[in-house]
Formats: sequence, structure tokens, C-alpha cells
Amino acid sequence: MSEKELSQGEQKILAARTAIDTLINEKKIFSGMKIGLGTGSTAMPAVQRLAERIKDGTLKDIKAVATSFQTTIACEDLQIPVFSMNAKQICGGLDLAIDGADEVSPEKNLIKGGGAALLLEKIVAYNAKQFVIVADSSKTVPSIGTKFPLPVEIIPEARVSVIREIEKLGAACTLRQGVKKAGPVITDNGNLILDILWQTPPDPVEMEKALNRITGVVENGFFTQNKPIVFVAQPDATVKRL
Ligand code: A5P
Repeated sequence: MSEKELSQGEQKILAARTAIDTLINEKKIFSGMKIGLGTGSTAMPAVQRLAERIKDGTLKDIKAVATSFQTTIACEDLQIPVFSMNAKQICGGLDLAIDGADEVSPEKNLIKGGGAALLLEKIVAYNAKQFVIVADSSKTVPSIGTKFPLPVEIIPEARVSVIREIEKLGAACTLRQGVKKAGPVITDNGNLILDILWQTPPDPVEMEKALNRITGVVENGFFTQNKPIVFVAQPDATVKRL
């Protein structure tokens, strides 16, 4: 008789907890580390598991940097000491960062920002010695940029000019709208989010740079640098490591 398959939510929890425990066993997470903590429904169980391993005494003197209000609040509630990237204790650099992703390509290029936290997520990911992604099986895809819309954080005053320039790069733009709030989503940094989509797969490495050259773009959700270790939970309750 075949076992029941794990739901997407169950896979998220499995990937997150497995990643934290595996990395502790492999001594890639250890006491005294500076750790960046991501945002979203897969990053949250990783934060939860990290807190449990602090509480059980496995990890001491962990200094965390949170990538959003969501993560800051979780750290406060779970008593994980949280610092700014600029704090003396962090000095703008992290030992490790762990986060979720919206899409992961075979080359381990990512789309992130489904939760509108891409700016701090990228600052944290690109300033960490080791980047780790936790994901459910729906996130691994053959190519990125044509299915899950790429989030782009923009300065509100540049909305119309940025849309014009992004359309020249062959993508269609939608201004992200709030839920239970009239009008657009406002990011944790006071900016807007455009969700953009190509009809044919773009080159994520080139497009990450090209988008950031547009005046008024703050950051985009292609993550092509600092290639991560990826833990992907499967419906059969195994976890693949990429
Ligand atoms: C937050 O802005 C994102 O980058 C998340 O990491 C990404 O959207 C994945 O979210 P879930 O883990 O909730 O699917």
C-alpha cells in the first residue's frame, strides 16, 4: 500500500527542518555564527527549527539578521537575537543565510520576492559566505521568467518610466496590489513592486544586471550570484539536495 503524499505545506516544513538539522550535523551551522534569515512560508519553519536548536542548547551565541518585518517579529517571538546588517556584531557580512524561493532552475538561478522582501533578502544572500535555499518540489522548474512573475522593487515616483524601460526588455508589467489594503503593495522599504513576465525564457544572469541599470529600479528578484545549497522536499517525504 502506497504512503500518502506530503502536501506542499508539509514539504515546506520538512525541507526547512531537514536543512537546519543537516547543516548542524555537518558543522556548517555552529555556535557563534552570524546567520541571515529569510522570509516566507518555507523560511519560517527554518527560523522555528533554529530557535528550537538554540533552546535545546545545541547552538549558542547565534546572531541573526532578519530580511523582513515578518522575520523580525518571528525572531522576537522566538527569542533569537536579531541585529541590523550594519551592527558592530555583524559588520555587513554573514556566515550563512537561509531562505525560500519562488522558482529554482537547474543552474540554481532563482526567482525570489513573492513575499515582496527581495531587497533585504538579496542584501543578506549576497553578503553571506554560504547561501542555503529550502523549497517544496513545486519550486524546481526547467527555466525561470515565463511562469512565476519576476518581482521588481521600484521607487514609486519612477513607476511609469520604469514600466516603459522594462517593456523594452520584452517583459509585461503588473503593479502588485495589496490584499486587505486598497491600492498597491508597499514594501518594507516604502517602495512598489512590479511583477514582470516574459513570453520566452530570458537569460537571468544578464537580465538581473540589465533591470538594475534602469533608473528607479531598486532591486529585482533574479538571484544568480552566490549559488546556494538547495534542499528540496519531495511528495514521498525524501529531501533532495542540489
Ligand atoms: C519572499 O519575498 C520570497 O522571496 C520568499 O522566499 C519566496 O516567495 C518563497 O516563499 P514561500 O516559501 O512562502 O513559498
